[in-house]
Amino acid sequence: MKNIGVIGCGNILETYLRSQEYFNNINFVSCSDINMELAKKTASENNLKAQTVEELLSDNSIDIVLNITIPQAHFEVSKKILEAGKHVYSEKPMSVKYDQAKELLEISNRKNLYFGNAPDTFLGGGGQLSREIIDSNELGEILTGNFIFAFPGVQDFHPNPESWFQDGGGPLIDMGPYFFTTLVNLLGPAKNIRSRGVKFSNKREYKAGPKKGKYFNVDIPTSYMFNLEFQNKSIIQGFISFDVLNHKRNHVELYGTKGSIIVPDPNMFGGPVMTSGQLGSDWLEHSVESKPLGKTNIFNKTVRSNEAPKQSNYRGVGLSEMVDSIENQRQQRCNGELALHVLDIIESAMVAANDKTEVNMRSTCKKPQPFNDKEIINLLK
Ligand SMILES: NC(=O)c1ccc[n+]([C@@H]2O[C@H](COP(=O)([O-])OP(=O)(O)OC[C@H]3O[C@@H](n4cnc5c(N)ncnc54)[C@H](O)[C@@H]3O)[C@@H](O)[C@H]2O)c1
Repeated sequence: MKNIGVIGCGNILETYLRSQEYFNNINFVSCSDINMELAKKTASENNLKAQTVEELLSDNSIDIVLNITIPQAHFEVSKKILEAGKHVYSEKPMSVKYDQAKELLEISNRKNLYFGNAPDTFLGGGGQLSREIIDSNELGEILTGNFIFAFPGVQDFHPNPESWFQDGGGPLIDMGPYFFTTLVNLLGPAKNIRSRGVKFSNKREYKAGPKKGKYFNVDIPTSYMFNLEFQNKSIIQGFISFDVLNHKRNHVELYGTKGSIIVPDPNMFGGPVMTSGQLGSDWLEHSVESKPLGKTNIFNKTVRSNEAPKQSNYRGVGLSEMVDSIENQRQQRCNGELALHVLDIIESAMVAANDKTEVNMRSTCKKPQPFNDKEIINLLK
């Protein structure tokens, strides 16, 4: 059994702690935060050790560190973890800058340490069934498609929304990792991107918390529209936005030479997956409720307007699969090459928009291996 320490005791920690109830090899022993009061409170509520970041990094009993600090701190914290000789599992994105993430991957390779990265949602029932259907060739070759993530922005419910609207934030960095990881899992690595980024307004109003009614600055584009060509020649159109109140489009639709598929929400683990064949034919619904990581396990509505009230959320499976990979000395599915390529797509979308030009990817990666039910059951309690 590997011991895991956590750096960052914010919102998402509760979800990771819950993963210990699902998976048999996740063992959190200690937690840390720059806010030590928060670390102490979290530790006492969850039967963990509270340590400063330095104490945690020099603790020989800890093998793996989960980095769930804010995106702007991911690089600095992950680098310290690797330098301390420990494996990293980081929340998305790997870093807010491609060059920094590349450096992390180089250090981890040099030191023979694992670098794992969220999102792991593509390992869920919806992502895996979509992969199975596409790999079976029943839809033929995927030629085109589109996806959307669009909501009004976190200022509607978050008391401190500023970082989402400053350098290192924005809709692409925040939500792009889910969509691009899902697309790479289905179609393989990307080749190039054309993009447009728009900032519709220089200020936004705080809608929640003590600053409600006041305004904050918007420094970066809040909507991106682009098309992304993959190495397999398919071209997918994307729209990621903090400027939409409500919409009714499907998260991801892909169109093949023999049929079409509606891929369920890349931010979640469930289904259903929908497919159709010839022009005018019915859409078939493929439930994933019988899949080990597809079954609905969340029944309360979240604050995010685009999320369904009932969901399947098995976050932590990527960490569990990495622990198993370390123990069996093979590459984990949520690996650094994949996360670096996803960050390449994100940064290239921004550069393409800014320079009004097509941008080629600097990186590539392997399509992750399909994750079969037998392997999943092996990790479940
Ligand atoms: N909240 C979500 O629903 C959600 C979902 C999926 C992924 N994520 C990702 O998880 C990560 C954390 O998100 P969150 O919502 O929990 O954020 P948060 O702001 O609630 O918590 C982050 C914590 O990290 C601490 N921290 C910041 N810099 C640090 C440093 N240098 N050293 C030690 N501690 C530091 C902060 O004090 C804070 O307690 C982000 O990368 C986010 O993209 C969040």
